Amino acid sequence: MDIIRVEGGHPLEGTVRVSGAKNSALKLMAATLLAPGTTTLTNVPDISDVHVMGKVLKRMGARIEVVDKHTLAIDTSGVDSWEAPYELVAKMRASTAVMGPLLGRFGKAKIAMPGGCNLGARKIDMHILGLEALGVEFDTSHGYIHADASKGLTGTNVTLEFASVGATENLIMAAVRAAGTTVIDNAAREPEIVDLACMLNEMGAQIQGAGTPVVTVEGVNELHPVTHRVVGDRIEAGTFLVAGALVAGPAGVTVTGFSPQHLGMVIRKMEAMGVRIETLPDGSGLTAHRAEHIAPVDIQTLPFPGFPTDMQAQAMTLSALAEGNSIITENIFENRFMFASELVRMGADIHIEGHHAMIHGVRGYSGAPVTSPDLRGGAALVLAGLIAEGTTDVSAIHHIDRGYENFVEKLVGLDACVERTTVPDPDLD
Ligand code: EPZ
Repeated sequence: MDIIRVEGGHPLEGTVRVSGAKNSALKLMAATLLAPGTTTLTNVPDISDVHVMGKVLKRMGARIEVVDKHTLAIDTSGVDSWEAPYELVAKMRASTAVMGPLLGRFGKAKIAMPGGCNLGARKIDMHILGLEALGVEFDTSHGYIHADASKGLTGTNVTLEFASVGATENLIMAAVRAAGTTVIDNAAREPEIVDLACMLNEMGAQIQGAGTPVVTVEGVNELHPVTHRVVGDRIEAGTFLVAGALVAGPAGVTVTGFSPQHLGMVIRKMEAMGVRIETLPDGSGLTAHRAEHIAPVDIQTLPFPGFPTDMQAQAMTLSALAEGNSIITENIFENRFMFASELVRMGADIHIEGHHAMIHGVRGYSGAPVTSPDLRGGAALVLAGLIAEGTTDVSAIHHIDRGYENFVEKLVGLDACVERTTVPDPDLD
């Protein structure tokens, strides 16, 4: 069984450059379906979720040339199937991001119902409601969603019940080929959506307002392939900044390869906790210094520009060491506190009440065997191990590999005492 073994107490120093954003790259790959021909994506993270999305596209008939491990040339001219198969959707829910582009290009899509995951039900009712407003007809049978837009897509006004990232993206990717104008109100504003809209506009789409709550799309007849660079991963960046806040040496931990303005609320909350964060003179990154004393700060996860749910676990590793009590409220997912119970095994004092985590700061963590509950929780357990007394063995690290490229190597580059190793699998007799 593969684990990440962390020896606590070693100060981190140096500079780490983050990879391209997982939550942009996956949608940009799906969006290549809208532009017959070869679109080249650069700064693509070399992570397992990207490999799965590649399989989804190849299953449909796309050809993908791995120019180098961060550059993909995706030729969708030969796509002749519009099905996202169960075994791939079950592996990666983000496969549902092909629904909008398939409808935009072919007027049909057959998507396996995305199962729940350990964050919650992960429904797509808002995707379906919005696409129905554009004229798509849905039928669900045998675990598949059959979407039919053979009567055409017609621009209209859609107000999302919640600023869903995925629903906003699928609606934009269908609306770019609808007849007329689509206005999406209460749209999600995440930087990854802005990145997607930028690429689509480079392809010939006419999208305005991405990054604001109202996105307007003028439908066009065709889109052409482009070359586009994936935006830097703000969540990976925030993860390394928290590592610096926990255990940086005198020079601090510097993180580059992303836009600091994509982490506004995270920086604000970390500074309120007592973490000194400096912006590089050229604005190309941030340096986090170790917080000798962590102040308790309440955090609410909300859609961007609110505090990102994908940074909730990482923030908790700081809050659980604060000199006082904090409350972290998870408003995005119904079940995203499993990380907390693993952190309690390392000595944290956290009590969960529904969507609230009541956190009583403790003086330190003790290393222990722990299990990654999900992608971000797994990374946060490694962070906790960096400051824990003794050794922490983090298992189920396939979760981490989904969204963090070379996580161990990047930490070792910062002088962390971390290694990927294997131990006998207790489940095997
Ligand atoms: C994206 O998921 C990200 N994934 C998530 O990152 C991120 O946590 C989330 O946005 C919020 O920022 C990718 O981009 C691949 P939502 P998504 O639609 O699109 C409910 C990570 O760690 N909902 O904004 O699924 C849903 O169940 C991952 O990188 C409905 O009920 O997020 C969830 O509770 C984890 N019906 C909430 O809304 C719908 O139709 C937020 O979902 C759609 C969503």
